[in-house]
This record gives sequence, C-alpha cells and structure tokens, in this order.
Amino acid sequence: MKIKERRRTGFSSDAVQEYETAHRKIVREAAAQCVVLLKNENNLLPVSSEQKVALFGNGAIQTVKGGGGSGDVHVRDFVTIYQGLKNAGFFITTENWLLECERDYQNARLEYRQAVLDKVDGNQDPIPLKRKYHMAYQTTPFTAPAGQEPIATDARIAIIALRRTAGEGLDRFYRKGDYLLTDEEEEMIYRVCALYPHVILSLNCGGMMDLSFVDSHPEIESILYIHQPGQEVGNAFADVITGKVTPSGKMADTWAWNYEDYPSSAHFSHNDGDLAHERYEEGIYVGYRYFDTFEVPVRYSFGYGLSYTTFTVQAAEMSFDSKAYSVTVKAVVTNTGDRYSGKEVVSVYASCPQGKLEKEYRRLVGFGKTKELQPGESGEVNIVFPVEYLASYSEQKPGWILEQGRYVLYVGNSLAASKAEGSIVVDEDAVISHTEHVLPLQEALTELKAPWDKVLARREAALESIKNKPEIRITAEELPVKEFCGSKETAAVPEAAAAFVERLTVEEMIQLVTGEITSGSADVIGGSGTLVPGAAGQTSSCAAEKGLASAVLSDGPAGLRLQRKYHVVDGEIQPITFEQKFADGFFNRYGDNEEGEAWYQNCTAIPTGTSLAQSWDTEVVAACGKLVAEEMVRFGVQIWLAPGMNIHRNPLCGRNFEYFSEDPVLTGIMAAAMANAVQAVPGLGVTMKHMACNNAEDNRFHSDSIVSERALREIYLKGFEIGVKNGHPKMLMSSYNKINGIHAANSYDLCTKVTREEWGFDGMFVTDWTTTQQGPDCTASGCMRANNDLIMPGHKADHQNLREELEAGTLSIEDLKRCAGRIVNMVWTSNCCEAE
Ligand code: BGC
Repeated sequence: MKIKERRRTGFSSDAVQEYETAHRKIVREAAAQCVVLLKNENNLLPVSSEQKVALFGNGAIQTVKGGGGSGDVHVRDFVTIYQGLKNAGFFITTENWLLECERDYQNARLEYRQAVLDKVDGNQDPIPLKRKYHMAYQTTPFTAPAGQEPIATDARIAIIALRRTAGEGLDRFYRKGDYLLTDEEEEMIYRVCALYPHVILSLNCGGMMDLSFVDSHPEIESILYIHQPGQEVGNAFADVITGKVTPSGKMADTWAWNYEDYPSSAHFSHNDGDLAHERYEEGIYVGYRYFDTFEVPVRYSFGYGLSYTTFTVQAAEMSFDSKAYSVTVKAVVTNTGDRYSGKEVVSVYASCPQGKLEKEYRRLVGFGKTKELQPGESGEVNIVFPVEYLASYSEQKPGWILEQGRYVLYVGNSLAASKAEGSIVVDEDAVISHTEHVLPLQEALTELKAPWDKVLARREAALESIKNKPEIRITAEELPVKEFCGSKETAAVPEAAAAFVERLTVEEMIQLVTGEITSGSADVIGGSGTLVPGAAGQTSSCAAEKGLASAVLSDGPAGLRLQRKYHVVDGEIQPITFEQKFADGFFNRYGDNEEGEAWYQNCTAIPTGTSLAQSWDTEVVAACGKLVAEEMVRFGVQIWLAPGMNIHRNPLCGRNFEYFSEDPVLTGIMAAAMANAVQAVPGLGVTMKHMACNNAEDNRFHSDSIVSERALREIYLKGFEIGVKNGHPKMLMSSYNKINGIHAANSYDLCTKVTREEWGFDGMFVTDWTTTQQGPDCTASGCMRANNDLIMPGHKADHQNLREELEAGTLSIEDLKRCAGRIVNMVWTSNCCEAE
C-alpha cells in the first residue's frame, strides 16, 4: 500500500456548492420525520400559512440546531423557526417584538461573555490559560432571557418557541432556566395564553424539561417536541405545522410527570453533591423499564407521538425462523383518517417470564415504520428480531439465559398503546451463552427491586388475554449455546499489517499507537487535526517514509465537525489560536487572522442523535449517514467519531442530545443503520462511542460508575453489542469514566473480553480525547494491555509512559505490536491509501 496524495480540502470560494443544497434538502426531510407531536387539541394543527401567527419565545430567533461541544457542527448558517415560518409564507404579527427580544438576547450574551472573561482574567492559579477558560465556561451558565412583555396582535394563533441547550463537560440542572422555566418564561407564557386563544408550543430542547405549566394553560392546544434536528430546523418545523409533512416521530424516552420520578434522580451527578461515584441503584430499571414495571404514571410514554391522521395496527402473523433463530411479527397498519396521509411506527415489546431472575415488565425487541399511507390505505410492517433479545443476564450462571415460560409479545405504536397479541413459549431454561464475569462490582450495591406481586398479577392478566392468540413454541434444545469461558479468541491482526509492524522500530510503534501530536493538540479537545483543519485528530505520520499514511478522525455525531474557514500562506495551512477555536471563537478578544488565501469547508448539520431516534426510521438515519459519508470523502476524513450511543439514564446528562435513547435496542439498531450507511462507502469508518456508562458529564474523567454486571450488560452494553454485531464499526471509543473502579480505557474486560471475544468485534478501539492525561490511574500502557489500540490525541507523556513500561517489563512488546498492527490495518483499509 502507498500513501494517497492529499489535496487541499474544501473550496477557495464561499459560494454555495451543489452538494450543500442537496444535503440541506435531505436534512430538511429527515428533520421533519423526527418531530414528535405531543398534543393536538381541537386539531389545531395543521395550520395554513395564510394564517397570521404571533411568534414568541427565545427559541424563535435563537433556535437551537444541536447541542454544544465536540458534537456541534460548524455550518454556514441554519434556519431558525422565525425564518422557517417566513419561508413558508406566514405573516408574523410580532416581528418587531421579536427583533427587540433579539437585542435583549445579544446584550445578555455580551454580559455573559464578559462574566466568563472576568473569571478567566481573575483566575490567578498557575494553570494553563485554556484550563482557565474551561473552568470559567463551565461554571458560568447562560440563561437566555425570555424577552419583552408579549403584545396583543390581530393573530388568533400564537406560537411559543422554547429553547434549551446543553453540551459537553457539564450536566444540566434541575433549576430555573434549565429543567424548569425561568420566572420570566412563566410570565411570558401566562401572558401569551391570556392574549391568544390558540397556542402552539414548540420545544426546541435537547432533552426533557418540566412541562407542568402546560396543565394550567388549556390555550396550549398543540405541543411539538422538535428536539434539535439540525440545520433545517425552522423549515422542518414549518413543514410539520402546515401539514406538508404529517408528523410521525415518537418519543425515544419516557417523559415523566416529575423529574424526581426518574429513579436515578436523587443521586444523579451533582444532585447529591457526590461527583466521584454514580451508583446505578436502579439496576435494569432504566427509562420505561422502570415506569412500566413499577406502574408509575408518565406524561408521555416511550414511543408516544400523535399524527394528523389515525391508524389501526393489527398484528397479523408471528413466526419463528429456526435457522436464523429469529422471530418475525407481521403487522398491518391502516390509515383510518380521511384527510391526511402519514406514516406509523409499529413496535414490539416482550414481557418475559418472571422466573429465577426478576425482570422488567416489558422490553422493546423490535420496531418498523410504514411507508407514507394515504387515507384508507393499508401497509404491512415486518418486524424481525433475534431470539437472543429475549434473554436476560444471569450473574449467577454467569451467562445469557432464556428462562422457561411464556414470553408475551405486545404490539402497538407506543409502549402504552401496545397490546398483548401473542406469545413465545420456551419449554425449558435455555442458557444461550456461558460467559466469564466482567467488570465486577468492587463494593456492595443495593439495587431496586420490582413490586413482585403486582408484576405477577399483571402477567397473569396478560397471559389470560392471549389464550386464543398466536403462539410460537421454541425448545431449549434447538437453540445454539455459545461458549465464551476461557476462550481467548480475538480476531487476529491481519498478516500483512502484522508484517509491516515488524519493519517498524520500537520508537515508531510507540508513536503510532498515539495520535499525531500537532501544535494545537491539547488546546481544544476535538480540534487537533492539521491535515484537515478542525478535525479532531489524525494518526501518526511516524511511518510515512515506510509508506503509512495518517488517517483523519473527525467528530460527530450531528454531522461532520470541521473548521468552516481556514487560511493558507505559502502553501501552509495556518493554525488558529485557542481563543479562535474555543466555543466557536465567541470569547476571542484578539480578532481572527485573515492573512492568506481563504478556504471553506461547509458541512451539514444533521439531526442530533435523539432526534434521529425519534424518527424510529432506519431509512432516515441511513439518509443522513450517506450525506455525512459524502462529506467525509469530499473533505478527506477517514473516520467519523460517531454515533454516540450512551443510554439516557437521566434527563440531566449534558450530552443526552447526542445519544439516541433510554433504550438499548432502539440505540443499537439506529447506530447500526448509521454505521452501515457510512461504511457502505469504501475506505470510511465510524466510531461507536463512548463505551460505556459515560451517562453523566460532571467530573467525567474521574467519576466511577458503580453498576451491577447484569445492568451493565443488559442496559449499558446492549446497544453497543447490537451496534457491533449489526453495524460492524471500524472503531469503538472507550469512555472517560471508571466502571466499578477501573477506567474504561484501561479495562481489558471491556476492550477485549466483551467486545472482541464475545461479540467478535474485529476493529480497533480508540480512547476518548486526553483520557490518559487525567491522572495516574489511566495510562497509555494500560490501554495497550487492554487492547485499546489508539491513544488520542497523543501526548509526549504517553510516549514516555510506554517507553518506561516497556523497559520495566510491565508492558510487553507483543501488546504494543498488536495495537500498532490494528492501526496499520485501519489505515490501509481506509481511503487515504492505495495499492502500489
Ligand atoms: C468527546 C468525544 C469526541 C472527542 C474528540 C471528546 O471530548 O468526549 O466525543 O469525539 O472529544 O473531539
């Protein structure tokens, strides 16, 4: 293999390119599919754009396309709700009011900026400037002002656009301005509802917030959870409210009545003042698994979402494929409305027998979505899921087991609306895999117990109700048993790559297993690439003379994150300063260096992870993946640092917007769809991240997630397992946190046993950025021993640690060679190389 010559990436003009227009069209269509209609009293929606509307709320002009941090995508521009409505032809009666509010907003931003800069300047500690910026930024929350007092106009309909944003490194708060409304927002809503008889509420938030205010304002007849659906947010919003698109999105999380109802709330992140330990006391009862099993009423159930039309969902057939060990549920969906066409989701939940292992009342096992159905039209949805989705993890065995008994299958368009339609009977306990223990608890953890009697009574009633319904019989004997005990079978490094490593010096190997140390490397996490400006990093060029290229890695997950504009002087790309990069240059006091020839890399912001999951449509995900792949090729990026797959354990996790759902099956299926779409283009790879239990952001480098092996495997690893087995990602990224006392990045159990030995993962692991720089208990050598192949973004201290441990004999040269070999193989199979 030889290095393919890199061309300068981007365009020497900022003129809109054809690909941008085409991609925005795709994103607009995708975004509309992700919107969840939560309420539509008196069929207020859709509304004609010939109506006058009064638009209020800080999300109208300050609309949020996606959250902050490495998951943010630098775009040319994006469509606000205000602009989207105007594009659709609405006459906005509050235009001047909005412009005044915008002035207030900009003033508030300037005050906030000053507050951060004052903290930076006032910090006399002998720490690097960038650290001061991070500290000041993270301890200075910005709350968008609610705006001026709402005014009466001659519109009958008002739209309130609420916004919430969050980002990397900081969890959200249960306080006014975040989970709760500010006093000004409450006042604004109160006044709008007093002035307008029909109100549409748009929730442009990256996660749930308290909605109790809605209950005291019957004027709020329609609620749309638009989440943060990317660059075309405003146009997509208009498409949905005008009925150009019938909403078909469904909740990917459970919206509880009260924040405290989420079982992890009392101790989550900063809530109990202990940032060092996250005790996962709710065990497997995460999201709807908790609410459903404990019968705690919720505002909007998992999978909930209305349409402008109505559907019936009829479970038609159930069958078992004894060769593929999969179950198929066929459902017929009919659009029973007479006016609007639309799509509907069909989901299948299993209620497993309560045997020796206590189980959640129901779990999602599969789903599908219809095509657009015209009024009166019927369509079929086939939902296929492997029998192993019915298994639970027995710590006692240890292994995955399908307990003997009846698995009731519920079918419907949401959890709450699903009905028991049939069952699967397993004649005897079937252990489908024997495993070794991984990441065992280091301290006692008391987990939540289900209300057993109530669960059993509910099961009885369900069993009674399906007596005459279809039944599939499976004998334990016919199911294959996988043996992972004592097996050390990991995919071997391909021979040619291993042979290449033999030609490297030890020093070259050391360099290769850490990323290329670039001038900007430790400055802004996620911005240390130099081959492609704004990329998160690149692999080492230490063996370039021997023919090994550097592969470029760039964030995700809401699109491709690159620097939008860069300059070239005498053929050299000009580095930008920390201040220019940090928070998109918002705090930069020194101006931009505009010297040289300007180049532009305009990327497209796709819907965030949760938004995509709300489409419940793998085709929507694939369409977005395809456009990202196209931009990767265009800009010379080989590895995309996406999708993000952590489970929404609690609504306050600062990065929930990047991740799909509270449910591992929905997460895994969406991630696999994304991986398959991107990796369909030869030479490209995705990185499923952050593995695992990085479910809170505060103190993310040091926090210890204390979790039972069962919850770990059934909830927090399950999505990755499904993603790996069905999407074959080139890379997995370890998370920052510890799991039961061991840093994920240094965990052999995680990076080898579970992923490689049990799931057959044959790609490479990469650390999250600077993981090994955060203290002595997570080292570069520890990564090598764990088979965490690539340490990013690379640091001299990592090289030193590797040298010292090789010398001391605590790191074997074989471990180093294996990791280096996987990197060589990744680079060779990427599109930055070509055959000689
Ligand atoms: C984030 C990752 C990201 C990496 C590179 C880290 O701070 O946690 O998600 O991929 O930076 O930008």
